Order: sequence, then C-alpha cells, then structure tokens
Amino acid sequence: MSLEVDLSGQTAIVTGVSSGIGAGVAKMLAKAGAAVAGCSRSLDHSKEVQGLAAEIEGIGGTFYYKQVDVTKNDQLQSFVDYTVSHCGSIDILVSNAGANIFEKALHCGSERWQYNIDLNLQSHWMMGKLCHPYLKKSSNGIILIMSSNHAVATIPGCFPYNVTKTSLTGLVRSLAIEWGPDIRTIGLAPGFIETNGNEDWFRSFSDPQAERTRTIQLHPVGRLGTVEEVGGFCAFLSSSYAAFATGVTYVIDGGRTALLQDM
Ligand SMILES: NC(=O)c1ccc[n+]([C@@H]2O[C@H](COP(=O)([O-])OP(=O)(O)OC[C@H]3O[C@@H](n4cnc5c(N)ncnc54)[C@H](OP(=O)(O)O)[C@@H]3O)[C@@H](O)[C@H]2O)c1
Repeated sequence: MSLEVDLSGQTAIVTGVSSGIGAGVAKMLAKAGAAVAGCSRSLDHSKEVQGLAAEIEGIGGTFYYKQVDVTKNDQLQSFVDYTVSHCGSIDILVSNAGANIFEKALHCGSERWQYNIDLNLQSHWMMGKLCHPYLKKSSNGIILIMSSNHAVATIPGCFPYNVTKTSLTGLVRSLAIEWGPDIRTIGLAPGFIETNGNEDWFRSFSDPQAERTRTIQLHPVGRLGTVEEVGGFCAFLSSSYAAFATGVTYVIDGGRTALLQDM
C-alpha cells in the first residue's frame, strides 16, 4: 500500500524556474503529474530553460515557458494569458521568483528598497490577483508563496530582503482569509538550500569549506536542504492531503530556527 501525491490533470504556474528552488519545484510538480508553465527573465532557448524542459519531458511531463520579468505587471498578465491559452486552466500558483537584495539599513538607497518591494513583495500579490479568476474556478485552487526563514529571524546586512519576506507572512494571511474557501494560500519559508547562490555565498569566505561546515553545524538535521525537498513540500501542500492547511507560512529549514545561535 502507498500514499501518492497525484496532481495529474492540474496546471501549475511556477515563477523563477531558470535556476534554484523554482526549477526544483517545477520538476517535482511535473513528477506529481501537473502540467507546468514556468517563467523567468532568461530566454527560452537558454541552457538552463532547455535543460529543465528536457528533464521534465524526460519524465513524461508537460512544460511551457515564457520569458517574463515579474516586476512588470503587463508581462505577468501576458504570462497568465499564455498559460490559460496553452493549458486551459490554472489550479496551482507557486510564486517563487525573488532575489537576495542584501544591504545594511543605513546604506540601502531608495532605488534598491523599491526594487526589493517590487520583486520580493508586490510581484507575489500581483501574480495572485491575476491568477485569482482561474484559481477560483478550480476545484483545488492553491497559492504557494516563497518566503524565507528571514521572515522569522535575520542577520545584519540582509535588509531590506528580510522586510519583504516578513511582509509576505501578512500577504499569505490576507489572501487566505479573503480568497478562501475557494483558494488556499500558504507561505513556504526555506532556510539554507543547496543552490548556486548559496554556493557563491560560501565562496565569498576566505575558507569556503570551513564556512560550509560551520553553517551545517547550525542545522539539527546535519546538512543543508535540497531544491527537490522544497519542491516535494510544494507538491504535498498542493494535494488533497493538505486540504486543511491555509493562511500559514511553514518554515522548512532543517531545524535551524529552533536552535539558539549562542552555542
Ligand atoms: N536558496 C535559498 O536558500 C533560499 C532560502 C530562502 C528563500 N529563498 C527564496 O526562494 C526563491 C528562489 O530563490 P533561489 O535561491 O532559487 O534563487 P535563484 O537560484 O537566484 O533563482 C531565482 C529565480 O527567480 C528568477 N528571477 C529573478 N528575478 C526575476 C524577475 N524580475 N522576473 C522573473 N524572474 C526572476 C531567476 O531567473 P532569471 O535570472 O532568469 O530571471 C531565477 O529563475 C526566492 O524567492 C528566494 O528568496 C531561497
């Protein structure tokens, strides 16, 4: 006997699929049977997008892609229209695209602040709003918003990223209570996930391996997370097994926030 997450017959939109977590989410949702429409600023013939398309098609999945800047509302609208014209419906939205906009509060300029708001906060609300009519029609409308463990606690120099990620907790609550019961809205707050961006972060230290080891020691699970684990969690949350979950942001960080750092 086994318990399977089956999303076949459903359409999932995933933003920010050209790398990292978004690519992992797209793969896992496709593995669960959903048709996936992805976007990012990368060209559709870029090696990242072509690689993802080949992986999804290799497991028998369906993948569509459009080049989109999620900070531009007209491009978001055309991505939603593109998805509906190819797939006929939208059941799952994973609003994932984002970037580490890391400054010190004293030095951050208003331009960086505004770009952070546009990308890491407003785009998620706007994407939800544009998908709303289609998600409402679905029997399984769900919005998953990629937050961060910086929504719970932060470190110096991660401003204003942490401000938007904290605000997403409020966005998740508002959408859940205003758009339920037709649509569930859930936030995911990953911690350290194995991505190119985090590899670059380790490389910025004089001894990258020592920094990696020190970071891993902050994780009760004894390792960093994988993009497939975040994707698998998205597939589970999109399924009927998680139908009672909404309005909440789940931390997925290998237990790091459970550990006081003064050890
Ligand atoms: N990795 C982690 O440990 C971690 C931890 C907590 C939270 N997160 C969150 O998870 C999400 C994904 O992060 P990641 O680590 O996977 O980063 P990543 O590898 O840099 O991926 C970010 C994705 O978003 C896309 N993107 C960035 N700006 C965009 C824009 N204006 N319009 C459209 N697409 C855009 C990028 O593609 P293009 O460059 O091609 O546009 C890329 O596909 C982010 O929201 C991040 O805050 C990550």
